[in-house]
Amino acid sequence: MTDINLDDFSIYRKLDPEDMLARIKEFPMQCSQAWQSVMKMVLPKNYSNINQLVILGMGGSAIGGDLVRTLVQEEMKIPVIVHRDYGLPAFVDDRTLLIASSYSGNTEETLSGFESALKMGAKKLVITSGGKLEEMAKVNNIPVFKIKYKALPRAALGYSFMPTLGVLQKLGFIQDKSADVAEIIQVLEKLSSKLDEKSPLKANPAKQLAQRLFGCLPVVYGAGIAAEAAHRWKTQFNENAKSWAFYDIFPELNHNAATGYSLPKDIASKIRVVLLRSPTFSKRIKLRYDVTCELLKQSGVAYEFVDSEGKSSLSQIVSLVSIGDYVSYYLALLYKVDPSPIKYIDYLKERLAKG
Ligand code: PA5
Repeated sequence: MTDINLDDFSIYRKLDPEDMLARIKEFPMQCSQAWQSVMKMVLPKNYSNINQLVILGMGGSAIGGDLVRTLVQEEMKIPVIVHRDYGLPAFVDDRTLLIASSYSGNTEETLSGFESALKMGAKKLVITSGGKLEEMAKVNNIPVFKIKYKALPRAALGYSFMPTLGVLQKLGFIQDKSADVAEIIQVLEKLSSKLDEKSPLKANPAKQLAQRLFGCLPVVYGAGIAAEAAHRWKTQFNENAKSWAFYDIFPELNHNAATGYSLPKDIASKIRVVLLRSPTFSKRIKLRYDVTCELLKQSGVAYEFVDSEGKSSLSQIVSLVSIGDYVSYYLALLYKVDPSPIKYIDYLKERLAKG
């Protein structure tokens, strides 16, 4: 049990001095501002002459690429690949559009891939707030989507997700998304009023879910357009709530995960599976959700559903992301941890910089 009362406003000032809550509430504004900026961006004409999109990034700067990938996969005729590693895949060539996404502009894996790309004919674009990445792009006359919003990388998601989507629209690879963008602002603002700190526990599903997850190991399941939202939930539980968390994706998880539901025996009661749902799911995926829940129930594993909001696929993805951001935030407070600092990531980066 926790003694934290999520309806007591004094805990927000005490446990969240850097105001992560404000960043979460600003997500609709981020999306809207980033969309307007990318629409004004001028891209070289030959950038539409490509046969694949490769996005370089890590952590909070990579997930926007994956969310775009899931969103456009049924519409886009060329592949979208998110590369989270050093260097470049061997298939990158001069008909590749390479987007290097790093909030800080100093992430070594992303810089390593970008440096390799500078020696090649691939079309390049950078999304960053500065750092070495911006310097290298400027020296090489590479277009930069400059993030001016001050936040931790994961809390500036609107500024990596929307520009990538906007670039694809500007290059003619996807249909006009302006109406969907207008819808997400409405959907996200409505969600915020239901999920923010002013909405009391008894009426606030995010506070309630965080309470049920307190003391549990969250495992988040997704499918189709909700797959990478599940990934985002996992990373937000890690980084905001400083909690272990895992995610898995349908239908693949039905080919392995279910066989491990019962052991070790004392773990089942500690796990809580959150299944993210979207009305876009096919009948077969819906059936898989049902059968999986039967198996979870038989194994004594608690589970529950979280449904997306809005009509468009875009709204459904970002609404799931936003709900997860709130839940991970409240879980941090329940654990009495400051949601902002990520001292283990900072420690790793410092140690790696020393060699
Ligand atoms: O959320 C975070 O802060 C991390 O996951 C970072 O995004 C990650 O370490 C990469 O850094 P950057 O986003 O600055 O490239």
